[in-house]
Amino acid sequence: MALIEVENLVKEYKRKISGEGIKDALYHILHPVYETFRAVDDISFSIEKGESVGYIGPNGSGKSTTIKMLTGILTPTAGSIHINGRIPTKERIKNNREIGVVTGNRSTLYWDVPIIESFRLFQKLYEVPDNIFRKNLEEFTEIMGLESLLHVPERQLSLGQRMRCNIAAAFLHNPKTVYLDEPTIGLDSESKRRIRTFIKKMNDERDTTFIITSHDFQDIEMLCRRIILINHGKVVLDNDIEKVRKDFDQKKKVRFEVENNYAMKSGEHCLPGVSFQYIDSYLIEAEYNTEEVDAMTVVGFVSKYCPIKDITITGRDIETIVQDILYKRL
Ligand SMILES: Nc1ncnc2c1ncn2[C@@H]1O[C@H](COP(=O)(O)OP(=O)(O)O)[C@@H](O)[C@H]1O
Ligand SMILES: [Mg+2]
Repeated sequence: MALIEVENLVKEYKRKISGEGIKDALYHILHPVYETFRAVDDISFSIEKGESVGYIGPNGSGKSTTIKMLTGILTPTAGSIHINGRIPTKERIKNNREIGVVTGNRSTLYWDVPIIESFRLFQKLYEVPDNIFRKNLEEFTEIMGLESLLHVPERQLSLGQRMRCNIAAAFLHNPKTVYLDEPTIGLDSESKRRIRTFIKKMNDERDTTFIITSHDFQDIEMLCRRIILINHGKVVLDNDIEKVRKDFDQKKKVRFEVENNYAMKSGEHCLPGVSFQYIDSYLIEAEYNTEEVDAMTVVGFVSKYCPIKDITITGRDIETIVQDILYKRL
């Protein structure tokens, strides 16, 4: 059995319907009417130890709801979850010892006490042996730049500093799996950089499994080997990032730096399978479909009209590919 096994998972929320207009609204306060809403709709996946998974999808697609079920905070309406063979809601304490949870908009630390005291409380709670605690604290302080923050209460820290402390706290007890729900939302670039380096190191060196949701595709590109894309509570795609890139990246871009692009622009020259964009007088961008033409043909075509000074060929990034899958532009 894989470390995380999710089968036909469903979560339904009951939502109050509020009527339109004051009269209706008043009526509904006294006679509430509920509708069922499926936030997670028959999701299955399995994750092996050591994997790094990006759980992505548009707002409201059911990411946080799934994470809450995986961590045992919410009970599924139907379907099953096994984490290391356990059902998280049934064996919550045992499960909690093996997981770390980070939520971008909620802190697990104590607002009024110095960070180091919160860390020590976690140590007690999770019964972390002194030597492990000290070793982790030292290493995490270094990577996350926590030295000057440890003796300050959380309320005096910036959002980025707070998040770095929260993430360090989630790894202090050497969890097998860490769930990160929007850990970098609204953060400064220094904090983002440190957080990414830290998570990557934990995954590389300690084989810590993690699932991360993020709107920032740089997090996903840097940290995840696999993505699970969901929309309206359903899995749309589940694959290795590299595979996704290969499968969907039929379009490539070539950027030409030329002496001037006048001859090409004014002639409105066309090549099937290629769309040209004129960024300024010295730059031409060509997006081409690899099934129709190859790079050499595109380069040859442009060089007929303009002397080329430099060429850069790029694929599309994973963010564009994901948008294309979601909005069916492929
Ligand atoms: N406690 C709740 N009660 C009713 N509806 C909810 C609740 N929590 C989330 N939802 C709804 O479920 C859907 C999925 O929410 P969520 O899992 O938070 O999405 P995501 O994290 O992908 O943005 C949304 O439409 C949201 O409004
Ligand atoms: Mg969310």
